[in-house]
Amino acid sequence: MAGNNGRYAPMQRYAQIIGWGKALPDRIVTNHDLEKIVDTSDEWIRTRTGIQQRRIAVDPNETTATLATRAARAALEVADVPASKLDLIICSTSSPEHLFPSTGSLVQDALGATSAGAFDLSAACSGFVYGLSLGKGMIATGQADNVMVIGSETLSRIVDWSDRDTCVLFGDGAGAVLLQASPVPGGVLSAVLGSDGSGGDLLIVPAGGSRQPATLETVASGQHFAKMDGRAVFRFATRIMAEATRQALEKANLSIDDVDLIIPHQANERIIQSSMKKLGLPPEKIFMNLQYYGNTSTASIPIALTEAIEQNRLKPNDNLVMVGFGAGLTWAATAIKWATPGVREAPRWRSGQRSAEYGLARMRSRFLQFSRKVEGSLITEEGEAWSAVLSKRITAWRQSQVETQEEE
Ligand code: ACO
Repeated sequence: MAGNNGRYAPMQRYAQIIGWGKALPDRIVTNHDLEKIVDTSDEWIRTRTGIQQRRIAVDPNETTATLATRAARAALEVADVPASKLDLIICSTSSPEHLFPSTGSLVQDALGATSAGAFDLSAACSGFVYGLSLGKGMIATGQADNVMVIGSETLSRIVDWSDRDTCVLFGDGAGAVLLQASPVPGGVLSAVLGSDGSGGDLLIVPAGGSRQPATLETVASGQHFAKMDGRAVFRFATRIMAEATRQALEKANLSIDDVDLIIPHQANERIIQSSMKKLGLPPEKIFMNLQYYGNTSTASIPIALTEAIEQNRLKPNDNLVMVGFGAGLTWAATAIKWATPGVREAPRWRSGQRSAEYGLARMRSRFLQFSRKVEGSLITEEGEAWSAVLSKRITAWRQSQVETQEEE
């Protein structure tokens, strides 16, 4: 773009949310179900937290990566963008599949996102907003055009189901958004990221990392389960949610009156009410769905965002705030100028095409795994592994399919 002085100025790139999706396990566990396993009551849980039920991944094949993949596919569907166009996948989680490889890489493989980098982000319940901030930075600096930001958890796998202090609070699920570079002003306007590691012990899984590797003793004494000082976290949360929201708005040159909708981390109804009261925000501007899902940690904000959009709570030019807090201690808030007018109707055949692409991604992955085992004996005359040659050909074929369809 030519500037007044005749020099070329780079085009401003904004990070717009153009796709969104959620994935939740089918199994609903109500407060009454929990009454049967710990000394608690529906009345206690509802009045102290607002939670009525949560979703739990009881099927061992349903994992943080599979939920994340489903949510990401839903976001690609809404945006009508093929996985091959993704440049980066940021998977925020506190219940990753493994210490390594990253859950992000497993999602990248399942999507067949062969042009994307992928990694996990560990900032507990604030992680999704951290991810949005990173995604915006990658887009604004021209390093990426399409960034998938995912929050996914199966906290039920690291919760002590005999500890009533924690097991009643959490649920499983995933949410995802697709950020895309756009010349249209708006999208992610500002982000505030914070950390206070002096509070690390307030919410912690003590063992299983390098500090306290797994031993018979750590397993026997329950050191692999989440431990929490609920009251201290509660005090921190009510203070920081209001503070971070004000800072994010100020950075975006907005005031509290400009806010059309706020999506706070869905941990506890009393925390949300108390912080929103401090900000003077009326109930109709606050989105809450924790009664159905409990605290899904980093997944709670993108799941809530997806439901807010499904309920027509956002329209173009609305100012949206998302704010979270969590273990670390961490906090994060972002102000967003909403620009997407709603769901674009993709042609029906597109959904069939996507399923075929995901099937192909699965085949590609299995083939690569198999061929690595026999790699040494399968080398081309040029000294290149046959698996690599075939993988490149499959990727090129898929890319040409996408380009042909785009031209049509
Ligand atoms: N059922 C019945 N009684 C219970 C239960 C339960 N499930 N859990 C605790 N109690 C008891 C306690 O033992 C205590 O009994 P006592 O008075 O005899 O000692 C009593 O209830 C009151 O306990 P408090 O801790 O004062 O209860 P409080 O009103 O603070 O509510 C809660 C507890 C809900 C945990 C609250 O402190 C809270 O929400 N804290 C924030 C937690 C949070 O949001 N964590 C997630 C952070 S995000 C992340 O990074 C994953």
